[in-house]
Amino acid sequence: MEVDLSLPTTLVIFGASGDLTHRKLVPALYNSYRKGRLPEEFTVVGMSRSKFSDQEFRQRMEDGVKEFSNDSFDAKVWAEFAPNIHYYPGSLKDLEDIQALDAYLCEMEAGPTNRLYYLATAPSLYESAVCNLGTAGIAKAEQGYRNIVIEKPFGSDLESARELNKVVHSVFEEDQVYRIDHYLGKDTAQNILFFRFANTIFEPVWNRRYVSNVQITVAESVEVGHRADYYDEAGVLRDMFQNHLLQLFTLVAMEPPASFNATALRNEKVKVLSATRKIDMADTILGQYEGYLETEGVAPGSRTPTFAMVKMNIDNWRWQGVPFYIRSGKAMPRKTSEITIEFLSPPHVMFDIEDPDEFSSNTLSICIQPDEGIHLKFETKVPGTSQRTRSVDMEFHYDQSFQGQPLPDAYERLLLDALQGDAALFSRSDEIELAWKLIDPVIKDWENPNGPALVTYQRDTWGPEEANNLLSRHSHVWRRGCGCHDEDDPCD
Ligand code: BG6
Repeated sequence: MEVDLSLPTTLVIFGASGDLTHRKLVPALYNSYRKGRLPEEFTVVGMSRSKFSDQEFRQRMEDGVKEFSNDSFDAKVWAEFAPNIHYYPGSLKDLEDIQALDAYLCEMEAGPTNRLYYLATAPSLYESAVCNLGTAGIAKAEQGYRNIVIEKPFGSDLESARELNKVVHSVFEEDQVYRIDHYLGKDTAQNILFFRFANTIFEPVWNRRYVSNVQITVAESVEVGHRADYYDEAGVLRDMFQNHLLQLFTLVAMEPPASFNATALRNEKVKVLSATRKIDMADTILGQYEGYLETEGVAPGSRTPTFAMVKMNIDNWRWQGVPFYIRSGKAMPRKTSEITIEFLSPPHVMFDIEDPDEFSSNTLSICIQPDEGIHLKFETKVPGTSQRTRSVDMEFHYDQSFQGQPLPDAYERLLLDALQGDAALFSRSDEIELAWKLIDPVIKDWENPNGPALVTYQRDTWGPEEANNLLSRHSHVWRRGCGCHDEDDPCD
């Protein structure tokens, strides 16, 4: 789709009184404005049922920027930016309100304009929102785009995701749709592609001939807290696996795309998901942290997993026989998102080593957050006359190498891309459905009252022991390379 970026642009946020708008969206827009990256003529219109005046809404957004922006607040910049923000009260479930909103927008826009609709509402409203935009006739325009951003979760299982895609496609063309996954907006997640495909030295070993296994961990120290109403229905598989973890998985495993564009990138991700073997239930561990059941909002006796670990396999030439261990959980010792590639051991060790266990295989760790960077662990000779070796780390840290250049928030990049009509970092309908297809059977198994038991794990641990046992069955252990320094913190 041709995008005319010289046209004025309007961003319409539905569900504008919710947290996302003042915590993430408007701080991201403010930071982009400050860097001069927004379209020259740019308007934000928030809509929700609450009755705010423009002034009240701007004040709420200003408070959000002060509290949540990762850059300092500049009152002068805000004073310039704030007049672009407006508010229109109404319900997106009500067709008349949507028609009235359009009349309001048309009057404000006074000519051809690009319009991006952003669904920051409860997911249960997505279908009616899309239908009303279609019936109101404002999902297409003669000049300027009419695109839509849809927040996660996109569906709650394969069937509902298919149904939602069907509804969306009855109103919008696929290239008008931006399904957001904020992990793809993280610079460090995109750097997986730069690391792999802007260098020549890693790709030759990025395959079954050199890689023993791949480990992806997204751990959070937070508990469910005040989100229990949502989380108890979702659980870690819907909340983290179907989207964020599988996105990281595809970026690590994909073949080199010919270019960094939406079609090429998403085709390669789809190929990885299509080649991924159905998950064997024996290769899954689901856990719940001790005390979860006492959280306000959690159903009595809830079987919702707050931790999951899954072994995945990709049946293709590059990855045949290489297990991908993927885990995520809440109430873990610290927040960390990281990917570790463990390489095979040397085929023969010529050194005179007393304890072969002290000889570790090489690992390459991509640290998505915090302490973003890359660590390469390799063996080196301990000084002296013996033939002992020890693992040492070669490290790259963003904050050291790019001093003074803070990493932008994921939403900053994604919103700008969506405003410019670039869908490379958004999920396509087939990708979303394939991801659900892989995770759905595990969810169904967990939801089955006669399904496998949920293991309880202690808070502040790296999950249930069973997750470690699953690796040992395959002669592997969790290798963690980000922010783990053996002397002061063994990490496991
Ligand atoms: C969200 C999940 O999508 O991602 C949350 O709903 C989770 O449960 C969050 O805490 C993690 O994101 P990040 O960027 O903090 O790793």
